[in-house]
Amino acid sequence: MRINSLQLFQFRNYKELNISLHPEIIVLYGTNGAGKTNILESIYVGTIGKSHRTNDTSDMLLFNADEAGIVVNFEKKDTPQKVNIKLFRQGPKDIRLNDTKISQKELIGTLNTVIFCPEDLQLIKGSPSGRRRFLDMEISQTSATYYHQLLQYNRLLQQRNTLLKEYRGKQNIPLAEWDIQLADMAAFIVKKRMESLKKINLLIDLMNRKLTGGLENLTIGYEQPYGKDNHLVYTKEAFYDLLQESLPQDRHRMTTSVGPHRDDLRFFSDSIDLKRFGSQGQQRTAVLSLKLSELEFIKSEVGEYPVLLLDDVLSELDEARRNNLLQFIHKRIQTVITTTDIHDFENLQGVQFIQCQEGQVHYGKP
Ligand SMILES: Nc1ncnc2c1ncn2[C@@H]1O[C@H](COP(=O)(O)OP(=O)(O)OP(=O)(O)O)[C@@H](O)[C@H]1O
Ligand SMILES: [Mg+2]
Repeated sequence: MRINSLQLFQFRNYKELNISLHPEIIVLYGTNGAGKTNILESIYVGTIGKSHRTNDTSDMLLFNADEAGIVVNFEKKDTPQKVNIKLFRQGPKDIRLNDTKISQKELIGTLNTVIFCPEDLQLIKGSPSGRRRFLDMEISQTSATYYHQLLQYNRLLQQRNTLLKEYRGKQNIPLAEWDIQLADMAAFIVKKRMESLKKINLLIDLMNRKLTGGLENLTIGYEQPYGKDNHLVYTKEAFYDLLQESLPQDRHRMTTSVGPHRDDLRFFSDSIDLKRFGSQGQQRTAVLSLKLSELEFIKSEVGEYPVLLLDDVLSELDEARRNNLLQFIHKRIQTVITTTDIHDFENLQGVQFIQCQEGQVHYGKP
């Protein structure tokens, strides 16, 4: 996967922008607020149709503009492709692949990227929803069916929760149809997550050994807060039974307590729970290994490496980890890096420097 060029129109602080990207490492540098992350964000929107840092589309439109545009020209397995996205202050997005209109669902998996930003360093310590989102987006980029099922599951879940609220205190709540479908989708989602996690576990341990010099054994466990005796629930029958069992509680709380929307990941280093006992450095290494394993996972599913987007994370890593990361991507993965300090990259080969400044870019070093 390689991005050749990017055009922005009224996107964030860019009134108009057209940049060509080098096939290896692209370093976007500039002062705070210059618009470096905005460029990464636009590429990410080209990947999944929405931003990694806002749920509100209008945030991405240049102040006072009514629409914004993103065009990404890229090559997937040497075939040139073009994603064209128009965002509107009012109304739905318009997404086109090679000039044909497609849905957001169809876009996912077209342009593959992996983004690594400072907030990701909180992945292990942070809330379960962040870890679920991570896993879901990783799988979705390689499986359209998974993303489709996930959307449907979330829609059904919302409808069920609405019913639980509407029938508060009443008898005979008509959930049977919902629960059969919900159990079916829950089973599909959990099975796919378990299967993917098995592959990711092999990869993450490999990556972690590279980063730590083979010292620590890193694994990710799948957890269900409603599971019994450490047995995972993954069949539709078991989900259906559990939904019935928890109905009194669900009615009381007016929310659904069983299903993949409650599941979580847990990271272990040599059987030590990293969330509870890991040092900051161990957690960082684990997240870095996770990101590298994501690159390998997508490669194994799709057949080539995704584009890597590194948002100012190198400055957060110590020198040894930074060098390990750069060595890993070198000549293998097209990588767009944002930084305020270009010193770290001055001795690297195959780097394109682009300076961001007040909504414009300039090629080359200062
Ligand atoms: N919708 C918008 N319209 C116009 N300008 C915007 C919009 N949203 C954000 N900005 C501007 O974009 C800039 C932030 O851009 P960005 O987050 O890319 O900065 P950055 O170069 O990554 O900075 P840092 O080094 O601090 O991370 C801010 O100056 C902000 O005012
Ligand atoms: Mg930034």
